[in-house]
Amino acid sequence: MTSVLSPGRLRLGVNIDHVATIRNARGGDHPDPVRAAQIVAAVGGDGITAHLREDRRHIRDEDLARIQAATNLPLNLEMAATDEMLEIALRHMPHAACIVPERREERTTEGGLDAAGQHNRLAPIVARLADAGIRVSLFIAPEARQIEAAMQLRVPVVELHTGEYAHATGEQRAIELRRIADMAALAARNGIEPHAGHGLTYENVQPIAAIPQLAELNIGHYLIGEAIFTGLESAVRRMRDLMDEAR
Ligand code: PXP
Repeated sequence: MTSVLSPGRLRLGVNIDHVATIRNARGGDHPDPVRAAQIVAAVGGDGITAHLREDRRHIRDEDLARIQAATNLPLNLEMAATDEMLEIALRHMPHAACIVPERREERTTEGGLDAAGQHNRLAPIVARLADAGIRVSLFIAPEARQIEAAMQLRVPVVELHTGEYAHATGEQRAIELRRIADMAALAARNGIEPHAGHGLTYENVQPIAAIPQLAELNIGHYLIGEAIFTGLESAVRRMRDLMDEAR
């Protein structure tokens, strides 16, 4: 838990969803995301992120309590803004809840949450989570109007979607990086802690990690993919080293 309280250091939250994706491919219990969470804890990861999707395609309901019981790391539960997920979050009481958009047909969380357009839907869910003491975050595109919407919803955290940056090349990547840096600064100036994530790899993480206002990165797919070749311990350590080097 100490890492949650140490400002200045860029935290690494490891998203273990895709360990469960591989497990579910055979319907059994191997590989177990709980074992991944324990390895992340052992190598100095700062948190575990898990997305309980409506279709349960990777993390399942019973995984949440098992992950929470297995390590002392804070759990960041990614969830859609639905009554079902709200009830599950209140039952499990994760350290943080990151509200994400969810479409059944998408392969992953493809865009940011429209916090500006969905204020009325989000407000009661944010309030219930916050009242319960769960740190609420909104996964948004790096746009000023979304930060403003987050301010109106009084969330303490926003997670800036780095997908456009990760997919861009050349000059466009520099433009996307600038947007993320500007929006991290805007959030921080307004008292919101900015996080970032999606599509981050060894190759593209450092310019993001160098943005001084960012407090946390959440990284999943690439780390789990690398873990197939080098082991999860080594993959998390390498990402951690690259992040530290960038600061
Ligand atoms: N942050 C959020 C809010 C996500 O939904 C995801 C997964 O889609 C991630 C971070 C991690 O993204 P990736 O698996 O591409 O590293």
